Amino acid sequence: MKSFLVPPQISFGPNSLDYLGTLQGERAMLVTGGSSMKKFGFLDRAEKHLTQAGLSCKIIDGVEPNPSVKTVLRGKEEMLAFKPDWIIAIGGGSALDAAKIMWVFYEHPELNFEDIIDVFSIPKLRNKARFIAIPSTSGTASEITAFSVITDSEKKIKYPLVSPEIIPDIAIVDPEIPATMPPHITANTGMDVMAHAVEAFVSINASDYSDPLALRAIEMVFEYLPLAVADGKNLKAREKMHNASTLAGMAFSNASLGIIHSLAHKIGGELHIDHGLANAILLPYVIQFNYQAAAEKFSVIEKTLGINSLANAIRELNQKINIPANFKDIDWLEITADYFEEIVDRMAQNALQDPCTLTNPLQPTVGDMKELYRNSFYGVAAQ
Ligand SMILES: [Fe+2]
Repeated sequence: MKSFLVPPQISFGPNSLDYLGTLQGERAMLVTGGSSMKKFGFLDRAEKHLTQAGLSCKIIDGVEPNPSVKTVLRGKEEMLAFKPDWIIAIGGGSALDAAKIMWVFYEHPELNFEDIIDVFSIPKLRNKARFIAIPSTSGTASEITAFSVITDSEKKIKYPLVSPEIIPDIAIVDPEIPATMPPHITANTGMDVMAHAVEAFVSINASDYSDPLALRAIEMVFEYLPLAVADGKNLKAREKMHNASTLAGMAFSNASLGIIHSLAHKIGGELHIDHGLANAILLPYVIQFNYQAAAEKFSVIEKTLGINSLANAIRELNQKINIPANFKDIDWLEITADYFEEIVDRMAQNALQDPCTLTNPLQPTVGDMKELYRNSFYGVAAQ
């Protein structure tokens, strides 16, 4: 038996943030990251809607890019004191991920972080509050998924936490919010969406339920990402990319991912390369590696798009949105070939053990992972 789980409500399109004005409740805890939601006025707008609906509001801000256990515990204490019946996360993937786990500890203050690390170990939620997620980037899709990544900064370990309990109750996908992203972030996060959709479509856990969502997301990224990068004010392109992110999120939250993500997680960690940028560079190389193992699936994508080669079409898309063809050509990355050779074995080993490797259509060896790293670093096209 398989199940397909998504939030019960997705409100989307321009002005969907206004939905907050219809909430019924007493207290809303808003959780956000740095200053951008405040700076662009979305936090104030959210607060205004909630106040008009008769809710009192409190804000937890300053959630950092890789949210830590410490931040999550700070949020827990604030929630225990304020007693919200709605938790509303607004911001990038980090703010949403952190708010999910603050919610877990608010509902179950007796738990320690170690108690929720195992898959499906999070107990039943929604005894105290319900959860709304409002993404500010079109990429991670935390508004949809059963995942959260929290970092233990003392042990320097990132923990991917998984439970259907942390799928938000309501996702608000308002395209005006990501319209403030600069072009390079639009490009990187957009290619994260592409990687989610392609990997979900060829995953060994793909299903009739996830496939149409993944396929549509791939089409939308090809059509609208170049437009959103070229003109951030193109609200139609922003809306399509925001929806594509959510569609791809519904697909990969259920079908899981593959080795683009395994490889991106480890090279991103070692060389501090943005997640979406690493995915974008790896995409064509991994597609060529996986092609024969999922030839039928890849040809469905190619037929749908009317192209001969998905790998080549992604190379062209990367070029159009100013993403380099290989890691050594990232202009700010200053590492020597010697240093890369020093770390490639460790990265390949770790990438092989990443949970995303399990659902890749072709089970790689450590040698395969090493070759994929070398090819994508130096820019050698796989055969
Ligand atoms: Fe991703």
